[in-house]
Amino acid sequence: MKMILETDRLLLREYVEDDAEALFRLNSDPDVLRFVPDKRLLNIEQARQMLIDHPIADYRKHGFGRGACILKSTGEQIGFAGLKYLEELGEVDVAYRLMPTHWGQGLATEAALASVRFGFADLGLKRIIGLVMPENVASVRVLKKTGLRYVETVTLWGHRFSKYVISP
Ligand SMILES: CC(C)(COP(=O)(O)OP(=O)(O)OC[C@H]1O[C@@H](n2cnc3c(N)ncnc32)[C@H](O)[C@@H]1OP(=O)(O)O)[C@@H](O)C(=O)NCCC(=O)NCCS
Repeated sequence: MKMILETDRLLLREYVEDDAEALFRLNSDPDVLRFVPDKRLLNIEQARQMLIDHPIADYRKHGFGRGACILKSTGEQIGFAGLKYLEELGEVDVAYRLMPTHWGQGLATEAALASVRFGFADLGLKRIIGLVMPENVASVRVLKKTGLRYVETVTLWGHRFSKYVISP
């Protein structure tokens, strides 16, 4: 398994198909999905297919993609974070999604800051965006704490998103 980055409390590593059960737990939790466009996963097989079609395909096509977020103190997989090339916009976006038991400890901000630094220092990106439903106040706060600033509202996948941006 290829490591993407490490922070004080987190490891971010590339996804493998065996992460399907953890992704299923994350993407079948209604609290997690409240402000994200993804449909609820109904079973582990759907989660496995999502891994194959999205992050695992992204590593091959673009050389990077979102990764599984591991809490170093316990080894537990608590969600995902990282960068993804969005073909729809021709932009790279930063995102994070954690199990509710791990909210409110600054972990998403820790992952987002490290992902943005990785994008600039290791991938040489000139700009990274963040897309958030405006009602998702916790995530808006994470983007702002990570240094992104609001630029415009865009419609994507049938939803309205606030688009935030950061440059090196
Ligand atoms: C968004 C999410 C990743 C935040 O994770 P987290 O680890 O709790 O985030 P952090 O602790 O780093 O920061 C959250 C900030 O939002 C604030 N916050 C949280 N809930 C809030 C609320 N209801 N109203 C106002 N502020 C709120 C926190 O106080 C904190 O800000 P602070 O450091 O200034 O106090 C987490 O809630 C999540 O996984 N949600 C579901 C998936 C999702 O929506 N992902 C983002 C899609 S764009």
